[in-house]
Amino acid sequence: MKTQKVVTLTQFISEQQELNPAATGNLTRIFQDIILAAKIVNRDVRKAGLVDILGTHGTTNIQGEEVKKLDVMANEEFIAALSLGGDCCAIISEENEEIIRVPNSNRASSKYIVAMDPLDGSSNIDVNASIGTIFSIFSRISPVSTDVTLEDCLQKGRNQIAAGYIIYGSSTMLVYTTGQGVNGFTLDSSIGEFCLSHPNITIPKNGSIYSINEGNSIEFSDALNTYISYCKESDKASNRPYSARYIGSFIADFHRNLLKGGIFIYPATLSSPNGKLRLMYECNPLAFIVEQAGGKANNGTTNIMDIIPKQLHQRVPLFIGSENMVNKAEEICSAKPL
Ligand code: AHG
Ligand code: MN
Ligand code: MN
Repeated sequence: MKTQKVVTLTQFISEQQELNPAATGNLTRIFQDIILAAKIVNRDVRKAGLVDILGTHGTTNIQGEEVKKLDVMANEEFIAALSLGGDCCAIISEENEEIIRVPNSNRASSKYIVAMDPLDGSSNIDVNASIGTIFSIFSRISPVSTDVTLEDCLQKGRNQIAAGYIIYGSSTMLVYTTGQGVNGFTLDSSIGEFCLSHPNITIPKNGSIYSINEGNSIEFSDALNTYISYCKESDKASNRPYSARYIGSFIADFHRNLLKGGIFIYPATLSSPNGKLRLMYECNPLAFIVEQAGGKANNGTTNIMDIIPKQLHQRVPLFIGSENMVNKAEEICSAKPL
């Protein structure tokens, strides 16, 4: 029986490193930090309910949202791993209002800044639906020997050197890009390794899934409601009506659409004119991934990765997924009202 060659994430990253003359090796090390934290969070997610990490932490975060215990635990694990690794000089986290400057990170290697959503889909923790971690990696602009500045952190998505996510679902997967395509790795707990399972992921140009919280449609623009009606029209040639799929964990909706094709929309609404999802650690990393997989991400008109961030926790409206579906949504949503 032909034994399948197992390629671990660590091997894959170092092989990619050898192919990239500009690589210095630090990125490999910072990925080790992320992998370590991901395995720890995965261990705790898999036994949530047996240990006291379900339910609320009794606090609210900078977003004014109720913090879940698993949010706190995941945040602490990723901050600890990144701070001890020695390659990260600052962290932007959904759970922390200010920049987390890593102490004594004035080593030459401490040049990376990580923006992260330590646990995406918190509302699904207690009901055992898929949740995830999202991360985005930049190189600092200011010299290593100086303090990390806000300008180091507020870089547009085009400057990302890597982005990825871990999805704690029916299996635990890590999907990432460094600008050389998108690859997916599934955690084999029996050997404690993420193994290559989805090489060269590409998103279909067309799909038949749309993901949006239609419960908010009374607050949507007329043009967006026109697009949603378009999704529901019967037209065999364009695979309509589409199927509505909305899990309430951005990472889970995104991952399904990445593999099957589809569009995810978190739009501007009357009460949230900038939408809900955060530019730095939800929209930018997944925009990098979807573009590397042949898809598209914009705020309705402007490519997400071209938006210059003004605040760490800035929200932006988001249309992301199959290129032709995002283009169609943009066409309908930007059409001048008759
Ligand atoms: P987080 O748990 O990190 O705050 O993210 C939750 C986000 C996103 O994962 C999901 O798509 C969205 O909130 C759901 O929002 P609604 O419940 O308003 O649809
Ligand atoms: Mn989130
Ligand atoms: Mn979160």
